[in-house]
Amino acid sequence: MARRKTIYEGKAKILYEGPEPGTVIQYFKDDATAFNGEKKAVIAGKGVLNNRISSHLMTKLEAIGIPTHFIRSINMREQLVRRVEIIPIELVVRNIAAGSLCKRLGVPEGEYLRKPLIEYYYKKDELGDPLISEDHIVTFGWADPYELDEMVAMAWRVNDYLNGLFSGIGLKLVDFKLEFGRIWGEHGELYIVLADEISPDNCRLWDEKTGEKLDKDRFRQDLGDVIEGYQYIAERLGLIPEGGIIKGGSINEQLAEKLGQIENELAQRRALQSINPPKPRKA
Ligand SMILES: Nc1ncnc2c1ncn2[C@@H]1O[C@H](COP(=O)(O)OP(=O)(O)OP(=O)(O)O)[C@@H](O)[C@H]1O
Ligand SMILES: [Mg+2]
Repeated sequence: MARRKTIYEGKAKILYEGPEPGTVIQYFKDDATAFNGEKKAVIAGKGVLNNRISSHLMTKLEAIGIPTHFIRSINMREQLVRRVEIIPIELVVRNIAAGSLCKRLGVPEGEYLRKPLIEYYYKKDELGDPLISEDHIVTFGWADPYELDEMVAMAWRVNDYLNGLFSGIGLKLVDFKLEFGRIWGEHGELYIVLADEISPDNCRLWDEKTGEKLDKDRFRQDLGDVIEGYQYIAERLGLIPEGGIIKGGSINEQLAEKLGQIENELAQRRALQSINPPKPRKA
């Protein structure tokens, strides 16, 4: 196979140029980082599970009419997505207090918020992704007000949907982070789509009965058995067989490779919905 051009290498993923214009390949690495890159480790099999979980959740969200960048699964570590212009804002949706919210405001971890909360962070590693307000976003032109409305509306829908999905399998969705991107259609119309990934790297998920943390906090807080937490989530979602695909740091590759087909069968290309009407066609 010809050598692929790397577009960007991040902390958790590599983006390669895709086979068709307007597409990119997302490669999920096993690297884990926390505290703005200060803490690092390699967690064998994490990339495989995140690729699986993210493609599954994106496919589910597409099915309820939320436009996403996901096109199809390629192999156990890679998925084909639409190339977008990332909006430099992270939307964090919180249902239960945890993480930086507790540190910043002194709220006890585990406290149910009286209503879900959306926070915005400016994507800027050098500044440690600072918390910002809607006004900052508009004032500095990171997104237009109508783009912001669109993102917020989608974030609420994602929260409602994922809350139901996870509670159905005995998990509590504490919080999660979303990234959105812009795509332009052939008439110059703008589409806002859900991009990046939705995985235990950027969701907090607790076991409903035991309160056990199953997500990246196991790594951040040195709780141990990080991959077991991720596997448990994938298992509950029905994405991997019971007993998992990773044991003692090694992956059952044959099994892992087959799992991607499931998503491809589910994924259907759907028409994107533009937030401004397409220009009329010339006769
Ligand atoms: N469909 C897409 N098209 C273009 N860029 C994307 C798409 N989906 C995600 N990205 C971007 O690709 C990168 C994914 O890599 P990764 O998650 O490893 O980055 P990161 O180290 O967390 O860095 P960042 O602070 O930029 O998120 C992110 O910068 C993300 O915003
Ligand atoms: Mg990232």
